Amino acid sequence: MTHAAPYPPFSLPTRELAVTVGELPDGIDAAAHIVFSGEQPPAASGISAERAASLGFDAAVGKTLVLVGPDGPLTVLVGGGDRSTADATVLRDVVSHFARAVPGQDRLAVVLPQTSTSVSDTVVAAIEGAALARYVYRIGEDGPDAKLSALALVCDEGAVAEAEAAVVRGLLLVKATKLARDLAGTPGGMLTATKLGEIALEMGPDAGLEVQVFGEEELVELGCGGLLGINLGSVEPPAMIKLVYRPEGEPTGKLALVGKGIMYDAGGLALKPGDEVHAVMKNDMAGAGAILAAMTVLKDLGCQAQVTGYLMCTDNMPSGSALRLGDIVAMRGGKTVEVINTDAEGRMVMGDALVLATEEPVDAIVDIATLTGAALRTLGTDIAAVLGNNEALMNQVKASAERVDEPVWELPLANRYRPELDSTLADLRNMGGANAGTITAALFLQEFVAGKPWVHIDIAGTAQSWTASKWRNKGTTGFGTRLLIDLALNFKA
Ligand code: BES
Ligand code: ZN
Ligand code: MN
Repeated sequence: MTHAAPYPPFSLPTRELAVTVGELPDGIDAAAHIVFSGEQPPAASGISAERAASLGFDAAVGKTLVLVGPDGPLTVLVGGGDRSTADATVLRDVVSHFARAVPGQDRLAVVLPQTSTSVSDTVVAAIEGAALARYVYRIGEDGPDAKLSALALVCDEGAVAEAEAAVVRGLLLVKATKLARDLAGTPGGMLTATKLGEIALEMGPDAGLEVQVFGEEELVELGCGGLLGINLGSVEPPAMIKLVYRPEGEPTGKLALVGKGIMYDAGGLALKPGDEVHAVMKNDMAGAGAILAAMTVLKDLGCQAQVTGYLMCTDNMPSGSALRLGDIVAMRGGKTVEVINTDAEGRMVMGDALVLATEEPVDAIVDIATLTGAALRTLGTDIAAVLGNNEALMNQVKASAERVDEPVWELPLANRYRPELDSTLADLRNMGGANAGTITAALFLQEFVAGKPWVHIDIAGTAQSWTASKWRNKGTTGFGTRLLIDLALNFKA
């Protein structure tokens, strides 16, 4: 069956951000001076502490004061809190507050502060803070980056070399996060599993990735009953996209990444209601998108670990051919699953890939998925749930989350709830009881990792933001992208 496509043409935004380092260049629209608690505004700002205070400014993080002169760039005082506690997270936030205080300005400058944070981490935080705060995915050629074309990082002569080297890293992290936002933000009708496969094939060579796309026939051969089962209701074919990054030289370790790629989650025959939360179910491939985005920059960032990504892509649609409630499917590896609820589809597609990941030599498996509404209810939109079977790997994930300010909180992989997944007809049912939904979903996934070190990241809450705050903008967040990059760069077997 073919249909005339009513959709706008698919394109990813391309506008580049130019970052310079050193003296304040000409043509800047607004320049930020960060003021720390108990300190005077920098002399270069030309404003006294008394005057700033009389205008309602103090140095708390989140405070800004925009000063308009007769000509030249706007001068913006930006609260930095205590200088001694200004780590990368604080500096990223501070610069994001600046970027939002002057929403109409296209070319920004930040006078880099001296803190105990290294020059390079300060540079990366500043680029992320400005670029990610401003960036929002929009359909069409124009306006996707809410106008930020230039960022000048003002620093002393002596810091220029270190700063310049870090600019490359900052821009790569931003580029990847923007890509993840774009992918998750693109409506399901425009970004199909097939299309995502094409994008991966197109981006692979430049990014130094081997890319393989497995279609329906190959998935049948592999016995991926979870992905095939969920795809039954869709007129769009499924795709498993396998990405391999091999570093030059002996890898420091082998990491497998498994991503949920539900291009649109209608719930299957267990159709979702038409409320606003479910209108964003196009983002149900945010896990797969974060992996693809992260992997496109590993080579340029000099990653020394070998990384294999499995993106499990399909719609979850209702139709006459859709999986029925009560159907039983055979997953990769032979385990059978009784489908109690077709809306618990993420764990079905993930199970196949987890098995495939265990079949290759791998030191650790990390999966990332918009898996449960319960994760959103439990931890809100800012913190992702993490569960796993290996403390050392969990600690690596937590350390990366902390460094990039993509916060995670560990929930217990409580085996006491495992009986809720027992089926009388099959090896497992795909849904637990009414409570602890994030935990029972993770317990389901655990059945497919064969005891290998594994951490599951549930980004159902964090993939989308309804407010612009700090590095997040309204819309898809790209959450997980920088976490996965940091994890791969620091990965130890
Ligand atoms: N993609 C959803 C999870 C989700 C829900 C993300 C709301 C963001 C907001 C997932 O496929 C789903 O539908 N999960 C069900 C599982 C249930 C049927 C066991 C859920 O969480 O309600
Ligand atoms: Zn889903
Ligand atoms: Mn669902």
